[in-house]
Amino acid sequence: MQQIKIGSDSVPALGMGTWHMGEGGSAKTNQEIASLRYGLDHGLTVIDTAEMYGEGAAERVVGQAIKGRDRRQIYLISKFYPWHATAQLIRQSLAQSLVRLGTDYLDLYLLHWRGTTPLAETIATLAQLQQEGRIRAYGVSNFDTDDLAEACNVPGGAGIVANEVLYNVAARGIEYDLIPAQQQKGITLIGYSPYGSGDGRAIRVPAALQGLAADKGITVHQLLLAWVLRSGNVLSIPKASSIEHMQANIDAAAVQLTSADCALIDQFFPAPTLKVPLAEI
Ligand SMILES: NC(=O)c1ccc[n+]([C@@H]2O[C@H](COP(=O)([O-])OP(=O)(O)OC[C@H]3O[C@@H](n4cnc5c(N)ncnc54)[C@H](OP(=O)(O)O)[C@@H]3O)[C@@H](O)[C@H]2O)c1
Repeated sequence: MQQIKIGSDSVPALGMGTWHMGEGGSAKTNQEIASLRYGLDHGLTVIDTAEMYGEGAAERVVGQAIKGRDRRQIYLISKFYPWHATAQLIRQSLAQSLVRLGTDYLDLYLLHWRGTTPLAETIATLAQLQQEGRIRAYGVSNFDTDDLAEACNVPGGAGIVANEVLYNVAARGIEYDLIPAQQQKGITLIGYSPYGSGDGRAIRVPAALQGLAADKGITVHQLLLAWVLRSGNVLSIPKASSIEHMQANIDAAAVQLTSADCALIDQFFPAPTLKVPLAEI
């Protein structure tokens, strides 16, 4: 599988999302745990979660999924609420996330979106937590170009290794300026919701692209995911609650799109030609 750099780490370009996991009954939760374990068994070592997801429920699911495994083989990302972005509250959030996850460190800790706490306070605290070994790296999420530039300029800002933002065929605005800005700074793009979130059918895929998927012998979802992964510069983190979906996503990571395939997709989902404010879910 294609690898991608986050700071000094190298991880697979396909990771596993967890939003809404742990919010169903025990049968659903067991299915989600089995799906994550299947992903881990098949080389998907990156798991993305957050204190927000089910108010800790998703982190508990992840904790179950990774229990008994070699922690060093797993790359765990979590996020804290912007109203927990103060020096004191980040520590509290982190401590609670670590308990739910059953681990004593995170590989990457992100500010979920920008709030009112000064970035200097948040970033300095993250840098301190990194020094203490509680997190291996830190970054932000849902930061557009200006916010990211500001964050990079506060003390500790040079340590930001990733920005996690919405990226799929129907949300390409970041190609105009955010992706180039991140590449220039060496900040990894983590692209969330490759299927547009919700029940995974939020993106209306025209018949021509359904035909393209059929011609290639893949599903429409696999076409959408292969498209996000096409450059090799994005870590995509679809959420799959079943082994069937997890395997389909793993298979999609091996699909190569030709320039003709991409040109056809561009006809229906064009690249931006001017600045588009960052879209969020
Ligand atoms: N930083 C942020 O602000 C932010 C915001 C949104 C999301 N995220 C992260 O990104 C992750 C992914 O985004 P998302 O969960 O919003 O949406 P998504 O991954 O775009 O879509 C998830 C939906 O697609 C379905 N699905 C997954 N694989 C499929 C396949 N191969 N074929 C058909 N359907 C498939 C899932 O069904 P099943 O569940 O039934 O498998 C689910 O209904 C989240 O879980 C979260 O970790 C971060």
